[in-house]
Amino acid sequence: MIAEDLWDLTNGSSFVSLRGVASGVDVILKMEGLNPAGSIKLKTAREMVRAAEASGRIRHGSELIESTSGSLGIALAIISAARGYVLTLVTDPNTSDRTVHHMRALGARIVVVKERDANGGFLQRRIDYIQDRLAQDENLVWLNQYANPANVEAHRRNTITEILNECGTPDWLFVGAGTTGTLMGCVEGLRARESHTQIVAVDSVGSVTFDAPPQPRYIPGLGTSRRPEIFTDHDALLKVLIPEADTVRMCRRIAAERGLLVGGSTGTVLAAVAGLADRIEPGSLVLAISPDLGERYLDTIYNDVWVVSRLGEGALATSVPPSPRVLTDFLALGGVRA
Ligand SMILES: Cc1ncc(COP(=O)(O)O)c(C=O)c1O
Repeated sequence: MIAEDLWDLTNGSSFVSLRGVASGVDVILKMEGLNPAGSIKLKTAREMVRAAEASGRIRHGSELIESTSGSLGIALAIISAARGYVLTLVTDPNTSDRTVHHMRALGARIVVVKERDANGGFLQRRIDYIQDRLAQDENLVWLNQYANPANVEAHRRNTITEILNECGTPDWLFVGAGTTGTLMGCVEGLRARESHTQIVAVDSVGSVTFDAPPQPRYIPGLGTSRRPEIFTDHDALLKVLIPEADTVRMCRRIAAERGLLVGGSTGTVLAAVAGLADRIEPGSLVLAISPDLGERYLDTIYNDVWVVSRLGEGALATSVPPSPRVLTDFLALGGVRA
């Protein structure tokens, strides 16, 4: 394929089979890190920019601002460099230095918000900063991945279609939740086809998206400290929270046992597969979405000193099985949320 634009190399049809991630469960991993932005967010950025260009909201020379933990920032910086947009990215201390250097190298201006919000995260503070800037500059445009329907559309149109075309209809689909664009796009796409797929929405312990108590988190990608506007709850969603220590253990296990250096969200989603393995019928078609690869996490998830200082010695013990908190079950039983 000779692409007209770099961002059309989304490489959405790459899948790899991981046998026996948990006893008796084979998973097909959808590899979304094999594109020029290194993550699934290339599709989100492309769709949001296309929609804004089509509506006349932005054109060559426009100034954009966006809140990002890194992946969307890199994707938007690629498109902005090539399209002539001036881009400011608002990030926080959980974004790695490498990612900040990457975004700067592509010409983006970086603002790091260091103050935590009331839920112990940074998202509300990043958004407050953007709203202050918008109030001062009426030409500034905020695509707002947390509320932009084009974020959902990117995955309804592409991600779920790529899965169905390549693999058929999954019995189980494990999807991580950050802005929930990927999740909602998959939900909408499967709903429209009246599919039987059990969708598992996977988030980190400490995230408030599924209405669980807030707690500080250290790994970027999944989780929020403020519920995204595009998220709509569905009874059919099985919602699971994974402790960050399980994320780290699974990432390290997959790297050591399979030679696949995965990013944090992938470790989280695979920990959910392993944690729910006893509910999955043998022979089921199980799919999990891997949003990015692990190189960006070499100084964090794959660095012993960082892991022990944030999550304790136990997070290095790769033989410890995951302990997911299944929110849906707690609610169905009328019990207390995790
Ligand atoms: C590495 C990574 N994984 C997962 C996600 C979550 O994807 P979504 O925002 O579509 O929920 C993000 C979002 O920024 C991400 O950067």
